[in-house]
Amino acid sequence: MRARRSLFKMNTSPFTGKTAVVTGAGGTLCSAVAKELARQGARVALLGRTLASLEAVAAEIRAAGGAALPLACDVIDAAAVERARATVTRELGACHFLINGAGGNQPDAVTTLTEFSPTEVAAEKPAGQRGFFDLSLAKFDDVIRINTLGTVIPCQVFGREMAALGRGSILNFASMNSFRPLTRVPAYAMAKAGVVNFTQWLAGYLAPANIRVNGVAPGFFVNDRSRKILLTPDGGLSARGQNVMGHTPLKRFGEAHELLGAVCWLLDDAKAGFVTGQTIAVDGGFLASAGI
Ligand SMILES: NC(=O)c1ccc[n+]([C@@H]2O[C@H](COP(=O)([O-])OP(=O)(O)OC[C@H]3O[C@@H](n4cnc5c(N)ncnc54)[C@H](OP(=O)(O)O)[C@@H]3O)[C@@H](O)[C@H]2O)c1
Repeated sequence: MRARRSLFKMNTSPFTGKTAVVTGAGGTLCSAVAKELARQGARVALLGRTLASLEAVAAEIRAAGGAALPLACDVIDAAAVERARATVTRELGACHFLINGAGGNQPDAVTTLTEFSPTEVAAEKPAGQRGFFDLSLAKFDDVIRINTLGTVIPCQVFGREMAALGRGSILNFASMNSFRPLTRVPAYAMAKAGVVNFTQWLAGYLAPANIRVNGVAPGFFVNDRSRKILLTPDGGLSARGQNVMGHTPLKRFGEAHELLGAVCWLLDDAKAGFVTGQTIAVDGGFLASAGI
C-alpha cells in the first residue's frame, strides 16, 4: 500500500510550480492553453495587446485557484517583450515553458480571388476585387511580422533566460498553411511555413542548452476572425466552410480543448523528452486526406 501511494506521488503534473508564458493568451486557442496549464499548477503569464481580454482569462484562472499575470505586450516589439520578461521573472519566476500563440491574419492581406483572373490586369477591374497583384505590401509585411518575428522575438527574450538556466520547452503555433498553402492567404501561409522551419532550426540550435522546441499545427478551429469566413450569419457553413469540411475526414471543426493533449505532451520533458523540432497537426485528418 505504501509503495503504491509513493507511485501516485510521482505522478504529479510537469507544470506544478513552474512558470509558463503564453502569448496570444486572450485568444480562442491560447486562452484554453493558459487555463489548462494553470489548472495543472503552472503560474501563467498571459501576453497579448488587449489587456481586457487577458484580464478576463486571468480572472477565470484565479477564480479556479490558479496563478495568472496578464501583461499587455506587442510580441513584435522586442523592448516590450523584454519588459514583460523582467516582470514575469520578478512576479512569477523565470519562464520554464514558452507558448507562442500570438498570430493571425488580416483581411487586407487576403485576396478575394482564389486564382488569377484576366480582370486583375484589365484597365477596369470589378469593384472590391483584390488579386495577388493588388495586395498591399504593407499589409503583407504586417502578417509576416506578427507570425514570424512575433515568434522569434519571444524565443530570443525568454529563450535567453531559459538557456542560462539550462532547461525549458518552447511550443510554437503553426497551421495547415505551414504544409500546404490554402487559397487567398499568401502572407499567412508563407509566414506559418516559416514557423515550422524556424521550429526545426531553433530545436537544433537550443538542444545543447537542454531546451526542446516543438510546434502544433491546428486545423480549422472557429475563432472570432474565422467565424465570418467559415460560417454564415445563421450558424450554417459558408462556401469556404463547406470546402473545409469536404477536406476534413472528421467532418467538423476542432474545439480548443482538443489541442490540449498535444500541447501538454510536447511541453512535458518526462513524456516527450526525446521529441524536438516536430510540429504536430491537430486537424481532424485534414493533412492526411486528398479530399477526393
Ligand atoms: N483558429 C484556427 O483555426 C487556427 C488554425 C491554425 C493556426 N492558428 C494559429 O493559432 C494561434 C492562435 O489562434 P486563435 O484561433 O486562438 O486566434 P485568436 O483568437 O485570434 O488569438 C490570437 C491572439 O494573438 C494576439 N495577438 C495578435 N497579434 C499580437 C501581437 N502583435 N502581440 C501580442 N499578441 C498578439 C491577439 O490578441 P490582441 O489582438 O489583443 O493582441 C489574440 O488574442 C495563432 O497563431 C493562429 O495563427 C489558428
